[in-house]
Amino acid sequence: MSYENSARIINDDIFDLVNELFAREKSSKNIEDRVNFFDTYNNYFVLTDDGSYSINSKEINHKVETLHTSTGAISESFEKFIKPMKFNYDEDIAILDICAGLGYNSSAAIDDFMKNSNANLTIDMVEISKATLACGLLVPSPIPAHDITKKAIEDELIKQNYATLSLEECEIPENIDINVFIEDARQTVQKLKDNTYDAIFLDPFSQNMAPELFSLEFFRQFRRVIKDDGIVATYTSAAPIRAGFIEADFYIGLGPIFGRKQGGTLASPNPSMLDTSLPKNDEIRIALSDVGIPFRDPGLNNSSEFILESRTEERHLARHNTKISSAVKTPIFLGDEMDDEKLKRRVERNLLKMNIPSTTSPEAFYIVEVEDSYTEKQDEKNNSTNRILEMKKRLKKIKEGN
Ligand SMILES: C[S@@+](CC[C@H](N)C(=O)[O-])C[C@H]1O[C@@H](n2cnc3c(N)ncnc32)[C@H](O)[C@@H]1O
Repeated sequence: MSYENSARIINDDIFDLVNELFAREKSSKNIEDRVNFFDTYNNYFVLTDDGSYSINSKEINHKVETLHTSTGAISESFEKFIKPMKFNYDEDIAILDICAGLGYNSSAAIDDFMKNSNANLTIDMVEISKATLACGLLVPSPIPAHDITKKAIEDELIKQNYATLSLEECEIPENIDINVFIEDARQTVQKLKDNTYDAIFLDPFSQNMAPELFSLEFFRQFRRVIKDDGIVATYTSAAPIRAGFIEADFYIGLGPIFGRKQGGTLASPNPSMLDTSLPKNDEIRIALSDVGIPFRDPGLNNSSEFILESRTEERHLARHNTKISSAVKTPIFLGDEMDDEKLKRRVERNLLKMNIPSTTSPEAFYIVEVEDSYTEKQDEKNNSTNRILEMKKRLKKIKEGN
């Protein structure tokens, strides 16, 4: 299914109700419908632990997700997207908010900026679904800055003939410029100027629902439009995504943990913007196993199913050829004495196919000795990205018999 075309992304019931509401507004010009919508239909919204509201997606690739974590929708915006940034508040700031949804991430950025800066802020929000943006107008604002975002969303929905009435009363401050792009983010990024953004918020659904928003080619566009000291923040810890950033010429680091077991991912052209290394085993798996194969979308126009299937095929071809099999997490045992004989046999069978005779062979040590320099705090030289690239290089040498 190509949900990109229909932009029918949220739960079907709420999607229909919201579309009907705005169609009715067009003919009746009655303000009451929109004003009363949330009270009438609040059972279609999902209350999160910090009191802010979210909504459910429709089923996409056999999955339903809530747009935000149950731990707290607006808290998530501050924790995952604002806190890891290192903005220079003395200068103008530009932010690209990909998958803007209800507008919470942009609102958190506005709140933070208004507390810290007198310079200018530009936010480019990108969201494929008008109905989702419209839901952003209908939920109670979790913070006052959301009223500013609502005004920008309403203006754009009126311009695009979806909303009719101008009900948002908040004025957008003169030093804040918000642009709302309602289209597939893959189209938008191609139109953006080089070297523009201090921050990119990347907040799609998870990789199995939206691999097209985590592809290597999409990240190459980020690399083009981000400033040298800019930071991309995303909540996911998935190996193909981290690998994609590295292939697109970013450095990567660990992002904050909030409402999840693992920290997210930060990426920057400048390694000194990223303080914390990934966990050791994550580095090893990304460098050496087929989980470290990124999603590919060369024309930035493939369906999510095609992107997922192509990666599965590529992983299959790479296993025992250019990558150690990810089965039984083989690469993380390199350098270890293993007690479990059954597991050891499976691990060593996989290693042998890559010319590594055992977990404690000189070849195994040669590859993972890179991790001897591991420190949780990373710097310009000693960091996750450099270690991953070095281990990759060493595996290639061993496999090719050099
Ligand atoms: C996890 S939610 C984002 C929540 C949002 N950041 C917020 O602050 O409320 C993911 C969003 O991605 C949007 N989306 C899905 N595919 C997209 C695409 N190709 N381009 C732009 N937005 C997309 C969905 O409509 C959905 O609103």
